[in-house]
Amino acid sequence: MNTKPTLDELFERRITYPDFEPQSRLARLVGLDDQKSRLAKILGLLVNPSGLAEWAQRHHPGTQALLDAVLRRPPLVVLAGDVGSGKTELAETIGDAVARQEKIDITLLPLSLSTRGQGRVGEMTQLLSAAFDYTVAEASRLKSASGKARGAVILLVDEADALAQSRETAQMHHEDRAGVNAFIRGIDRIANAKLPAAVLMCTNRLSALDPAVRRRAADVLSFARPGDEQRRFVLSSRLEPIGLGRHHIDALVIATGPQRSARDYGFTFSDLTQRLLPSIVLDAYPSRPVNGARAVEIAKAMTPTPPFRDGEPVA
Ligand SMILES: Nc1ncnc2c1ncn2[C@@H]1O[C@H](COP(=O)(O)OP(=O)(O)O)[C@@H](O)[C@H]1O
Ligand SMILES: [Mg+2]
Repeated sequence: MNTKPTLDELFERRITYPDFEPQSRLARLVGLDDQKSRLAKILGLLVNPSGLAEWAQRHHPGTQALLDAVLRRPPLVVLAGDVGSGKTELAETIGDAVARQEKIDITLLPLSLSTRGQGRVGEMTQLLSAAFDYTVAEASRLKSASGKARGAVILLVDEADALAQSRETAQMHHEDRAGVNAFIRGIDRIANAKLPAAVLMCTNRLSALDPAVRRRAADVLSFARPGDEQRRFVLSSRLEPIGLGRHHIDALVIATGPQRSARDYGFTFSDLTQRLLPSIVLDAYPSRPVNGARAVEIAKAMTPTPPFRDGEPVA
């Protein structure tokens, strides 16, 4: 059986930008300013290469060779790092910043490889090939003969850990290699046709990223667990408005950080937002208000998600 998946089967939900919802989600991300700005610039140039020429005209006339070095980079950015550090969240929302910056509509086609492509042999390869077919078809319609594209497409290959597996890894299956090859072929198709399309790949395993994939990446952005200041920001922005005082916030920042004897890592962003904060609220609900001392106890009793380690630590 070799039927090509339909658009709806491949991408559960397309996201189009600009839109308010991704805009506010993007604004809520903490500590990712560098990743945000690098990603927005790279995507902006893939969509509108003439922007760079206009910049050069203004500041550095006659520097085509330098511009080519920037513009010839392949349309791939890798987002790598620990679980719950904002890779998916940034990938799903950055299109809004680019759409506003370039004043065009952008569509995100999100393909997750963790929930898909684990069935019969050849499925991952087929999913990837089909995803690139749709991306190329869509982007071809948006390309304009000269200058700025009418719109752009971002293909998000999320949870791409199987693909990030190095081709040199001995236990790698034939099927995985075929998947990597399909991915590389897809990137090259978009690059060769100079389409207004970009590919974002998210992985927890930077250390195992296939060299051929890494070589094609215009940039590899790394994501880490929040430090003290970032945890403080996430916690205080949610808990101060409901009356928690400074010393309880201080105690929460400590309780959610690395613990000298027990563990050398602290809470992830998602441990804070999706586990700790809801537990604090549900502990008080429905009969009492949130209590600072109780919130600290809850944090102390909770264990953070262990870091994703495969050989060497991730970025
Ligand atoms: N940098 C961050 N700032 C604020 N919240 C974050 C950040 N990173 C992750 N989160 C929270 O954690 C959740 C999971 O993040 P996600 O992007 O899915 O992580 P992953 O890196 O595993 O893809 C997000 O929905 C968001 O609520
Ligand atoms: Mg993710």
